Amino acid sequence: MNSTYKAFWLEAGDLVVIDQTQLPFSLVTKTLKTSADATLAIKDMTVRGAGVIGNVAAFGVYLAARESKGDLVKIKELAAVIRLARPTAVNLMWAVDRLLSVLEKAATQNQDIVEVALKEAIAIADEDVVGTRNIGKYGCELIEAIAKTKPKGEPVNILTHCNAGWLAIVDRGSALAPIYEANERGINVHVWVDETRPRNQGANLTAWELGQSQIPHTLIADNTGGLLMQYGKVDLCIVGTDRTTRSGDVANKIGTYLKALAAFDNHVPFYVALPSSTFDMQISDGVKEIAIETRSADEVLYLQGLQDDGAIGRVRVAPLETTALNYGFDITPARLVTGLITERGICDADETSISAMFLDLIP
Ligand code: MRU
Repeated sequence: MNSTYKAFWLEAGDLVVIDQTQLPFSLVTKTLKTSADATLAIKDMTVRGAGVIGNVAAFGVYLAARESKGDLVKIKELAAVIRLARPTAVNLMWAVDRLLSVLEKAATQNQDIVEVALKEAIAIADEDVVGTRNIGKYGCELIEAIAKTKPKGEPVNILTHCNAGWLAIVDRGSALAPIYEANERGINVHVWVDETRPRNQGANLTAWELGQSQIPHTLIADNTGGLLMQYGKVDLCIVGTDRTTRSGDVANKIGTYLKALAAFDNHVPFYVALPSSTFDMQISDGVKEIAIETRSADEVLYLQGLQDDGAIGRVRVAPLETTALNYGFDITPARLVTGLITERGICDADETSISAMFLDLIP
């Protein structure tokens, strides 16, 4: 059992998280002491990324157990609030439900509810550590195969969108796990990092993560990927996901779908990396059945970054009277997905292949 992960850790029973809203300009932490702290951290995106959202939700249920001294009715009330913090990443609901079901059973056996909650939250994070390592190993085989076809000295060029690294799921990430693995095995890789407007998770977080590991990367404006593919400069796309249906439709950060369309048109393999906790086996049609988060128009109307005076601030990029629409995610239909890289192996993005590999998850 572990209690220290790269994106968060336990300190004197509280959960300390890296404040991702401050990266890459300052590496600061926040201490979450109550379930309300956990809910707010998910809501205001102090923490983000499907996996870490799920972890903080699970620890949030533990904090709820602690503050309500193990009162299951009160815990359920607080857990219901955590469950609503963001709508799209299914890991949030999955983690809360898993904690509640374990606590209900523990209550019938007169176990220490607070202790059981903590143990289960840690178990989920530990599973992510192992899962992301396995995702890395399976995904690396794809990179290795491409590397063998490359002239000596030429890198495998991988395009990614948003941040699906260890800030998003501990301790290796999902989409970035195969890249970390390849880098460690000495395979020459180069990553095209989509800036990922409006919140710039690519520019702020993925570029920072890759820089920390000295992995060669280039930041590109979101609309550049298509041209790079036409030029033959992208060998492979790997993205993460916030929710994937049993038929392989993928919800991920807004703009993912357009990358998948460009990849399809240019015969570039487009892979989605995910742990099994990101499958939503209850649903099939991503467009009709996945709730897409809408966020503040300000995220589109303003750009946030480091100002000349050293403070993090924002500048407006549209006329004062302009309004904006801000969908946080989009759906990439299964037909555009070459394969799903999971902790159990790589499968096709279709119901038959998914249910063959994940039979135990089918309700
Ligand atoms: O809005 P965010 O930053 O939480 O969105 C994150 C993503 O879209 C990631 O690509 C996704 O969560 C997969 S990472 C485990």
